[in-house]
Amino acid sequence: MRSTDNFTMPDNLKHLIDKLTDTRQLTKDEWIRLITGRTPDLAEYLFTLARIEQQRHYGHGVYIRGLIEFTNYCKNDCLYCGIRRSNSHARRYRLSEEDILSCCQTGYELGFRTFVLQGGEDAYYTDEKMVSLITHIKGLYPDCAVTLSIGEKSFDSYRRFFDAGADRYLLRHETHNPEHYSRLHPPSLTASARQECLWNLKEIGYQVGTGFMVGSPCQTPEHLAEDMLFIKELNPQMVGIGPFISHHDTPFASWESGSLELTLFMLGLLRLMLPKVLLPATTALGTIHPEGRELGILAGANVVMPNLSPAGVRKDYLLYDNKICTGDEAAECRKHLEERMESIGYHVVTARGDSLNL
Ligand code: 5AD
Repeated sequence: MRSTDNFTMPDNLKHLIDKLTDTRQLTKDEWIRLITGRTPDLAEYLFTLARIEQQRHYGHGVYIRGLIEFTNYCKNDCLYCGIRRSNSHARRYRLSEEDILSCCQTGYELGFRTFVLQGGEDAYYTDEKMVSLITHIKGLYPDCAVTLSIGEKSFDSYRRFFDAGADRYLLRHETHNPEHYSRLHPPSLTASARQECLWNLKEIGYQVGTGFMVGSPCQTPEHLAEDMLFIKELNPQMVGIGPFISHHDTPFASWESGSLELTLFMLGLLRLMLPKVLLPATTALGTIHPEGRELGILAGANVVMPNLSPAGVRKDYLLYDNKICTGDEAAECRKHLEERMESIGYHVVTARGDSLNL
């Protein structure tokens, strides 16, 4: 008997959540049944167990990462993404090394000890430029972690960035299923190439983050089950998930966005499957609901990634419509987050916040 037995819900599904808690994994068929049959009571039960794991390993601390969106040029044409190559309405920008270092300085003063350099796949930033940037940041802030999120690169390039001092790499697998992957991406991109990058990053020694969108066009519970199996196998240090949100200048403009409810449910499942993993309550989650990020923390998440990009370019890094915090200065974002986390009994932690999932 668990301490949380005052819920009414389908016994067979409660049993699956208990099995997940005990064994940290489920079969594909079990994932599908659990995701398909979920109810509000089952979700509450899941979140209660997810918070027990979250607090066992990370207490009530929420790690912050300073996100620097340094270029919105992208050579790719992902069908869901607002900065896809063929969106001629996107106003393109690049930050200089000087701009980026100034974001880091602001961030450091605000207590950030992780900088996430995220951008489209932009050939302007050659390996040499990236190595210079990483070297400079690590030289100025040796107590900080540098996270890269710049897409698919060769093993060699990943190794060069790592040798220059990059600690972590975020690359969502987006969806594990090859057919589903090909519905969301141009033919030049494949699920297997994506997954190979993730294995390469792990082999080199990065702390790796993967993830997927919830409710992306044509996604089924079976796809989500495959995502869970893949993530279990990859055993990453971080998993970033958020609802798909349509962008008006993409082929998916008229698709419905993913739901808050399913995103929270998947966060809870991830926390039970990989108890020590880092789980961000993402900006997309905060965009589909005013308290999305707080609800994410209460479903098991333990990271938030506020924006450190200069206010002048914020609204141009528009992966989806209505993205939040595009008007705030970094300091405002940081202060609001602090207040939001405290309103639910959590607090922001100033630390590198390395994953306990090794
Ligand atoms: N809705 C939600 N998330 C999106 N991303 C890209 N476009 C969208 C969208 N329309 C996510 C992708 C990518 C990450 C940086 O942002 O999963 O990996």
